[in-house]
Amino acid sequence: MRTILPVFAVLLAGAGLAQAPTYELIGSVSQVMIRIIYPTSDALFYIERAPPKTEVEWNAIRNQALTLAESGNLLMLPGRAPDQGNWIKDTKMMMAAARAAYKAALAKDMAGILAQSDALTESCVACHRQYRPDYGKK
Ligand code: HEC
Repeated sequence: MRTILPVFAVLLAGAGLAQAPTYELIGSVSQVMIRIIYPTSDALFYIERAPPKTEVEWNAIRNQALTLAESGNLLMLPGRAPDQGNWIKDTKMMMAAARAAYKAALAKDMAGILAQSDALTESCVACHRQYRPDYGKK
């Protein structure tokens, strides 16, 4: 043990210095939008179409809200974020609204979720206006 431990310490320090990314990008930004952000935000925007009543239904909404909030972290990963300016600002706007919606969902507060709709929409539009190719031209 006495000889092995220092070797381990050196190996660990070396691994730290190499800074190999510990994450892997799987989907494109477009796929993250279509598969994660679009369906989860829709579940919040249109919650009134099928208002949750049971614990199971509320948990489904909580899942959507937390997934949406955390998806902001996916957008900010190096390799996805094109800059550290408005991209991050717009993402954080989305995360703040989704986080507040998640808190409301924990409290089974549908009005509280709907109260975030405008801020949520604003975050989508602000980012799309600047970064989405051909935005508004379709
Ligand atoms: C930080 C920036 C950012 C935010 C915030 C954002 N988007 Fe996007 N979104 C993009 C970009 C960039 C594209 C274009 C992706 C491409 O075509 O490669 C896009 C594309 C999309 C698309 C079309 C995907 C396709 O390829 O057809 C949908 C749907 C979409 N976003 C939904 C949303 C919704 C809903 C929200 C808000 C809840 C949102 N986005 C918030 C950056 C953002």
